[in-house]
Amino acid sequence: MVEHFMRLKEKPAHRVIGLMSGTSADAIDAVLCDISGEGRGGLKVKLLAEHSQDYPDFLRNRILRACEPSGGSSAEVCELNFLIGEAFSFAANALLDKSGVGKDAVDLIGSHGQTISHIPPRTGSTTFQLGSTLQLGEPAVIAERTGIPVISNFRTRDMAAGGQGAPLVPFVDYLLLSSDTSNRIALNIGGISNITYLPAHGRFDETIAFDTGPGNMIIDAMVHYMTQGEHAFDRDGAMAASGAVNPKLLHAMSQHDYLKRPPPKSTGREEFGVEFTIKMYDWGTQNGCVIMPRDIVATATLFTAITIAEALKQFVLPKGPIDEVIVSGGGALNPVLMALLAKELAGVQVGISDAHGVPIKAKESIAFAVLARETALGRPGNMPSATGAAGPRLLGQITLP
Ligand SMILES: Nc1ncnc2c1ncn2[C@@H]1O[C@H](COP(=O)(O)OP(=O)(O)O)[C@@H](O)[C@H]1O
Ligand SMILES: [Mg+2]
Repeated sequence: MVEHFMRLKEKPAHRVIGLMSGTSADAIDAVLCDISGEGRGGLKVKLLAEHSQDYPDFLRNRILRACEPSGGSSAEVCELNFLIGEAFSFAANALLDKSGVGKDAVDLIGSHGQTISHIPPRTGSTTFQLGSTLQLGEPAVIAERTGIPVISNFRTRDMAAGGQGAPLVPFVDYLLLSSDTSNRIALNIGGISNITYLPAHGRFDETIAFDTGPGNMIIDAMVHYMTQGEHAFDRDGAMAASGAVNPKLLHAMSQHDYLKRPPPKSTGREEFGVEFTIKMYDWGTQNGCVIMPRDIVATATLFTAITIAEALKQFVLPKGPIDEVIVSGGGALNPVLMALLAKELAGVQVGISDAHGVPIKAKESIAFAVLARETALGRPGNMPSATGAAGPRLLGQITLP
């Protein structure tokens, strides 16, 4: 085992697979890339292949059920861990087939796994609550099915060191997307939205990053609820475009406690999932508002754009100017959300990460390929200024084939 990693240390470049599925639990996004160098300006990522493997419906439904606070039984979580491991292995092997690259030519897999529960630590004046987080997708299964060393379970070490365990992607945003001339925000709109502030000439420890709140999560849950599961999301923002925003419902949503909490902070389904969505839906239908389904989706879409813009105004602008917002994640494919965001952020240039060589659907899987390589080379991968951890930590666990 030591030998394998000694060999990696001697090579200047590494071929790495990154596997990621976010809180939307829609698909496993897989990338194969060659990574060389280190540090800002030094790290280079060449994307060789990309593959997105949708979860089969039965598995997605079981994952979403297990994510609810009333959740899955320990037997269900146990079985899901192995099933998700199989799904991740399938995605990795499909990626390799697509790329034409043999598994012997791949040095490492970095697998984020599927978050099933994320309970951030909270410090208050009278209480202290330790955080906990659980990502499923058994790495032993992935190592067995692919024959490639796997690095997994990235979040736990940061959390054990007092951090939020999230966000971890800012480390890679800093390396790949920062600029010497432009003050940038890297914004990922997945199920949850998170931002990384990259001031021009900024130092690593000056980087701010946190979850702003919902990304597509409320929109997806509303659409799923109202179409009785027929649709999983508002494709191209069509429902939102045909609906009207309900100001009362928007106001009710805006009362969510998370939005006022200062960073470092992270969130998930526990705060913006199905329970919140149904509560808002019921609130809307019980308060004398006759709200059409499309109006609810329009309201949730504006709410999402506003929470992102407000988080930037409230928590980033006091620290420095913003010239550009670089968007990634599936939310970048929702033109209504993107237009509302541009409107809320008038004066700031809003574009997508593809323009910087990072395809929107690949950013997070690239990030876990980079983080796996950092671990394999013995370098820390968390950003304490973003997670609140006591210091830099070597992330993840290693499973050899
Ligand atoms: N064509 C589209 N129109 C609108 N929304 C889309 C489109 N394609 C993807 N999305 C949204 O993107 C989400 C998936 O984004 P993703 O970045 O994979 O999130 P996560 O990291 O949480 O899995 C979907 O659930 C959906 O809400
Ligand atoms: Mg996804």
